[in-house]
Amino acid sequence: MKQRVWIILFVVLTSCNSKTETPVKAKKVYDMYVPSEMSKLMLDMYTHNLELKQQIINGQSPTQFPNHFLNIHSAQLSDFQIRDQQFKSFSNLFITAQKEIYNTTSTLNLKDRFNNTINTCIACHSKICTGPIPKIKKLLIK
Ligand code: HEC
Repeated sequence: MKQRVWIILFVVLTSCNSKTETPVKAKKVYDMYVPSEMSKLMLDMYTHNLELKQQIINGQSPTQFPNHFLNIHSAQLSDFQIRDQQFKSFSNLFITAQKEIYNTTSTLNLKDRFNNTINTCIACHSKICTGPIPKIKKLLIK
């Protein structure tokens, strides 16, 4: 039981609190920490969008919507997270926005579509998991 509490505490400290640095106390349990499916998907979404940002800045057009992003609807969450109605709505908003980036018939420019997507990341995070927000905000194209 005690172990479980530590694991939960660590996850809270790493993914969902507002401090950017991991407190020394939590580092002790590092080797017990197993990232959730959702954590892994999120890191992948982050990396993908970081690459997209660079492509868009370089004037390239993104090619294909990464279908595995749809796993946001089913990926197993860390214990303390709940996939409630609000979460589902935010997931849908995000997927719709991300798909628009690849919509070649869109009338909105690519930069705006990209920033809209990042804003849906931030919208969900501001309700559910505030820790990564500063990192996510850096994705926005100025
Ligand atoms: C529907 C809500 C929602 C949306 C949309 C969303 N996230 Fe997340 N994100 C979460 C939740 C919940 C977690 C914590 C996952 C867990 O611990 O199981 C998380 C975790 C993260 C993490 C921390 C991962 C880790 O464990 O280190 C990053 C970084 C992140 N998200 C980036 C993003 C980016 C970038 C986007 C948009 C491209 C995005 N998120 C969209 C809910 C969301």
